[in-house]
Amino acid sequence: MEHFFDVYSLLLIDIVNAFDVCYNWNIKMTAQIMTKIKAIINADNSAGIKEMYPMKVLIINGSPRIKGNTSVTVNELVRTFEAEGIETEVCQIGGKDIRGCIACGKCSELGRCVFNDEVNEIAGKFEQADGLILASPVYYASANATLIACLDRLFYSSRFDKTMKVGASVVVARRGGCSSTFDELNKYFTICGMPVASSTYWNSVHGRLQGEAEFDTEGLCTMRNLAHNMSFLMKSIALGKEKYGMPEREYGEPTHFVRDDLK
Ligand SMILES: Cc1cc2nc3c(=O)[nH]c(=O)nc-3n(C[C@H](O)[C@H](O)[C@H](O)COP(=O)(O)O)c2cc1C
Repeated sequence: MEHFFDVYSLLLIDIVNAFDVCYNWNIKMTAQIMTKIKAIINADNSAGIKEMYPMKVLIINGSPRIKGNTSVTVNELVRTFEAEGIETEVCQIGGKDIRGCIACGKCSELGRCVFNDEVNEIAGKFEQADGLILASPVYYASANATLIACLDRLFYSSRFDKTMKVGASVVVARRGGCSSTFDELNKYFTICGMPVASSTYWNSVHGRLQGEAEFDTEGLCTMRNLAHNMSFLMKSIALGKEKYGMPEREYGEPTHFVRDDLK
């Protein structure tokens, strides 16, 4: 029944578009009324999509400062996702005692990291989520070290398919090193089939002392646009999966840099 209404609204959009074209030469008022009708129909459709596809975004905050500038940034994202009807969960791990990967390879047997800490808990949440946001303060033009320790182990040890879960990273600095940190974090997504959502600027917010980020209005606007774009992408992917299924994938032989046949 819900699908019937969805198809019905899409048909209505077509009729409105046709009407729009026919009366194109007519007064400006027509265009304004058409825009309003389209907005109402689109809002209805998006409400339908929300109900059909309940979605969740997991946010990993790598700052040790609970009420720091990264939290200000994350809160802006959370508010916008809420308005989009998308659930969020924030895991703030910057103050946790998370060690780095020791390359023991045990995860290939266990299907989880040998160190049973927050990383394995986060893996379960990540598996259930439709999107993942990595948020980090910039430390020496790089991401917070605890966050990197967490992400190396999370991505290396977890075995579930991450294809088409949407990713985005956001970075917070006093002044410099945002772009390199942004690039560093985006690499976790692009090695495992995760499309990366973007905004109207590179996803950075500025501030030094706790809470200063509240005054970076451009940065926070970039965050709201990011959350809107990411919501759109997640909804579109959900619809696309239903219509086309998941993309094809090949599993080739791994060719390491040093090839046995060339020794
Ligand atoms: C160890 C350390 C290194 C930092 N390195 C940089 C840096 O490279 N560039 C910069 O602009 N700010 C740097 N900062 C400042 C933080 O990025 C800035 O204060 C940010 O707002 C911290 O976010 P938070 O409040 O969420 O912890 C550094 C701070 C610390 C503690």
